Amino acid sequence: MGSRNVIIFGSQWGDEGKGKIVDWLTESVGGVVRFQGGHNAGHTLVIGGRKQVLRLIPSGMLRPDVICYIGNGVVVSPEALTKEIDELKASGVDPEPRLRVSGSCPLILPSHVALDQAREARRGNAKIGTTGRGIGPAYEDKVARRAVRVNDLRDPAGFRARVTDLMEYHNFLLTKYYGAEALDPNAVADEVLGYSDRILPMVHDVPALLAAAMARGENLLFEGAQGVLLDVDHGTYPFVTSSNCSAGAAAAGAGVGPGALHFVLGIVKAYTTRVGGGPFPTELSDAIGARLAEKGNEFGSVTGRPRRCGWIDAPALKRAIQLNGVGGLCITKLDVLDGLERVKLCVGYEVDGERVDLLPFGAEAVARCEPVYEEMPGWSENTFGLTDYDALPTNARRYIERISTLVGAPIDIVSTGPDRDQTILLRHPFA
Ligand code: GDP
Ligand code: IMO
Ligand code: MG
Repeated sequence: MGSRNVIIFGSQWGDEGKGKIVDWLTESVGGVVRFQGGHNAGHTLVIGGRKQVLRLIPSGMLRPDVICYIGNGVVVSPEALTKEIDELKASGVDPEPRLRVSGSCPLILPSHVALDQAREARRGNAKIGTTGRGIGPAYEDKVARRAVRVNDLRDPAGFRARVTDLMEYHNFLLTKYYGAEALDPNAVADEVLGYSDRILPMVHDVPALLAAAMARGENLLFEGAQGVLLDVDHGTYPFVTSSNCSAGAAAAGAGVGPGALHFVLGIVKAYTTRVGGGPFPTELSDAIGARLAEKGNEFGSVTGRPRRCGWIDAPALKRAIQLNGVGGLCITKLDVLDGLERVKLCVGYEVDGERVDLLPFGAEAVARCEPVYEEMPGWSENTFGLTDYDALPTNARRYIERISTLVGAPIDIVSTGPDRDQTILLRHPFA
């Protein structure tokens, strides 16, 4: 049997429940690959009632024997990575023997964090609401060809020289442009080099390992972080992250050919959430929004910020499906809608008096979209924890099926609770 490789990506503004589904699907794979983003991601996994938050480490780590790869498209903070490893160790999982980090990953330095925060402060009310983890500045340095990368840690003297050079530029920006404090280049180099002994043993030629795994017939899962509406090209620019979070990024961000990717599964929350700034057409600032936030426990797993909540948005999902070549969808957090008398679905937008049925690009265009809703009766029954599609209340099934019809994609999986086992399977992505 040849290997079958599946990409999972977020179809909204992140936090769709990708981590839960990746973890659940790891039963079918030899490896899980992260290909973009960094520790701006926060993925909560619950297994047998035990909760674990992963940020940089792929969501395959809690399944023994699954190899976890951090591809070249990911920006790596040595501090965050070692901290996460230690947290996992404290909870009884040793990630080190199963983690493979690409030497081509750009490093996030303390000065990237300082720049991220100084920029946000400068923007004032127009701030993006970043996670403040240095993600944007690290990607800027990557494309500007001045980044230091994981492999550079192999030559400490060369690393120090490159960091000193880079810090001259960072400090110029920090002090002269942002009026912030300079950082000591030697202290930064010392700090980062201090993680070398922990990180270098995990550094491998990831593309070669992935090719070998595929040659052995192993299945791989490519785990997207964030969501397509935060994609730097396709999202609500400039209120986006700094990487491509769409499925197409998996090949370049891991080092495999596009032909090695066989199926794209989009993860969709049964409603919509967003953390940080930027337009959100179906946002609810009323009691229902508050209820979704409370019942869905919608607080950022990285920054703890409350997530903004709203109704499901079909024109946005259609765009996500179009941009990502989706083969099937997984609807998560259906249980959070339990007990609502009526549920609303955004089926299109009014833009300057005209009807539009696909999310436009960029924040300004999205801000002009007035949602047009369709209402459906809700359900009073509990769906929490159900594992059988036929056991779902009729109205819940109608809601799911209506989403599928509106967006033109099949629903393959339904998630009814945070735990690994609280999942309904209709069609297996690895089948
Ligand atoms: P990710 O970033 O896409 O991996 O999503 P997060 O982990 O940041 O946010 C999803 C949150 O919803 C987490 O706290 C999960 O434990 C939880 N969750 C996932 N699926 C379900 C579900 O079907 N029902 C409920 N109630 N919670 C879920
Ligand atoms: P997961 O993988 C939700 C948001 C931030 C901010 C914008 C830019 O858990 O779905 P950044 O720090 O990336 O420069 O911030 O992107 N953001 C996320 N929102 N889930 C995430 O990841 C996010 N990662 C970044 O809130 O609005
Ligand atoms: Mg998250």
